[in-house]
Amino acid sequence: MKGVILAGGLGSRLYPLTKATNKHLLPVGCEPMLFHPIRQLVSAGIEDILVVTSTQHMGDVVRCLGSGADFDCKLSYKVQEEAGGIAHALALAEDFAFGSKICVILGDNIFEFSIKPYADNFDKQKSGAHVLLKEVGDPERYGVAALDEYQVIDIEEKPVNPKSSFAVVGLYFYDEHVFDIIRSTDASERGEMEITAVNNIYIRKKQLGFSICQGRWTDAGTFDSLFEANQLLMASQNRIMT
Ligand code: DAU
Repeated sequence: MKGVILAGGLGSRLYPLTKATNKHLLPVGCEPMLFHPIRQLVSAGIEDILVVTSTQHMGDVVRCLGSGADFDCKLSYKVQEEAGGIAHALALAEDFAFGSKICVILGDNIFEFSIKPYADNFDKQKSGAHVLLKEVGDPERYGVAALDEYQVIDIEEKPVNPKSSFAVVGLYFYDEHVFDIIRSTDASERGEMEITAVNNIYIRKKQLGFSICQGRWTDAGTFDSLFEANQLLMASQNRIMT
């Protein structure tokens, strides 16, 4: 399985911290934010990794991460020329994936524990997709899963009246069909290609599995969540628990 880290976007909720730099280069604990998703993928045995980021910050991102040798992995890079949404950024990974399954991690998602168990499970899954859910106190900030007894039956992006308190975490596993599925979706009302639209197509095809995310998890895209991410990674000195 190959890895894709999505680190484009504008980081506008963190302005003015992001006035001169990319959100994913901000410090979290003792390291730049982007070190965490790389270490997570490597901890899961995924060593061929694509980083997608914006034109504006590609130079700084490459200066910070290099070839991947410091992380025992191989890094490739792709430019997202406009912040067209998460699925828009993922579409840029099609040539890199070249028919492989992929593990996609949002560059601002921080996990207490290694993602290895989920990657190992998806390796055994023949096809389809797999997402992680986490119960949160503020679901309206996220993609929110509606569940029946056994499965996810719908996901709504940032709903005003969430159907559950289960947020969809920014870690997704996809088979090789994800790129055709992205092509079949339209931009949302806010003008973005939404990863939630992609996941809803897997749901309709009855091909979306889910796990509950163990341990602490947060994004780092707002001042409050960046603070939480710092606390989480300071506690472990940026080590990932296994
Ligand atoms: O953190 C989990 C949540 O992430 C999910 O629950 C939501 O379903 C998902 O849409 C996303 O919500 P956010 O509002 O937090 O997404 P945001 O726009 O902050 O983007 C998250 C990351 O995705 C960002 O750190 C970099 C990457 N991204 C985003 C956009 C819009 C790109 O690479 N390119 C983009 O154009």
